[in-house]
Amino acid sequence: MLPPWTPESADRVVHGDNLEILPGLPDGAFTVVYLDPPFNTGRSQTRHETHSVRGSRTGAVTGFKGVQYERIRGDLMKYDDRFDDYWSFLEPRLAEAWRLLADDGTLYLHLDYREAHYAKVLLDALFGRASFLNEIIWAYDYGAKSRSHWPTKHDTILVYVKDPAKYHFDSEAVDREPYMAPGLVTPEKAARGKLPTDVWWHTIVSPTGREKTGYPTQKPEGVVRRIVQASSREGDWVLDFFAGSGTTGAVAAALGRRFVLVDSNPEAIAVMQRRLPGADFV
Ligand SMILES: C[S@@+](CC[C@H](N)C(=O)[O-])C[C@H]1O[C@@H](n2cnc3c(N)ncnc32)[C@H](O)[C@@H]1O
Repeated sequence: MLPPWTPESADRVVHGDNLEILPGLPDGAFTVVYLDPPFNTGRSQTRHETHSVRGSRTGAVTGFKGVQYERIRGDLMKYDDRFDDYWSFLEPRLAEAWRLLADDGTLYLHLDYREAHYAKVLLDALFGRASFLNEIIWAYDYGAKSRSHWPTKHDTILVYVKDPAKYHFDSEAVDREPYMAPGLVTPEKAARGKLPTDVWWHTIVSPTGREKTGYPTQKPEGVVRRIVQASSREGDWVLDFFAGSGTTGAVAAALGRRFVLVDSNPEAIAVMQRRLPGADFV
């Protein structure tokens, strides 16, 4: 039994299956939910769990848009049954993410280019198309390059807001970027840099750099930092329940935000113990 969480609790890292942990957190507590789930390996992903959730939480699985969602889900799965298992794993967890988002909150879902478009259609039906804010492309340039097709060097981050009329977004709070053609703008503008767009060029975590934790799927702090800067304020709570090496916690702490992180892998917890020594580990 975990100690109850309240907004007065310390920053927290929880070891366990997120689907079991999340129901213990209260509705609307988090301003940012950033999720970087494992990519679809094509293998079955703990399907039995999902079935028990299906039985008990009909509202979440029917989708907020009801019948339309079920129809779209059925149609999509006919195209690709490997996605069916993956979505059965993600869907109840995304429904929990939605419940946990504050009215002014934002969900960032970090996906592989092979999954992103199926997920986009389903999320539009599940959360409502009006809640879709952006598709962010994180572009990098590292590693081997195929010669048989354009080398795929990007991830997709889908962004959904809980309430399109209320969400928090502060573009001025975000690190600016150099202009591509600084000679075309005034020297003052060039010195200040430009607001980032929805395409983010950012190197992967350098194998020899300061950030490297050794956790294989670690994401760069620079990518998560923008998310937290734009979509939360100091003191707000941030949630990441596929936390891995704890990048979201490191960024949140550096920016004066609070965090709850969850991961089921003991190796991830060990990395986070080193990276986030100020948090409670439960
Ligand atoms: C892609 S990694 C996240 C990496 C992270 N963004 C970072 O920067 O280090 C996905 C994580 O989800 C965790 N995970 C997978 N299934 C889970 C589950 N059911 N409950 C909790 N964590 C899970 C894995 O252990 C893994 O650490």
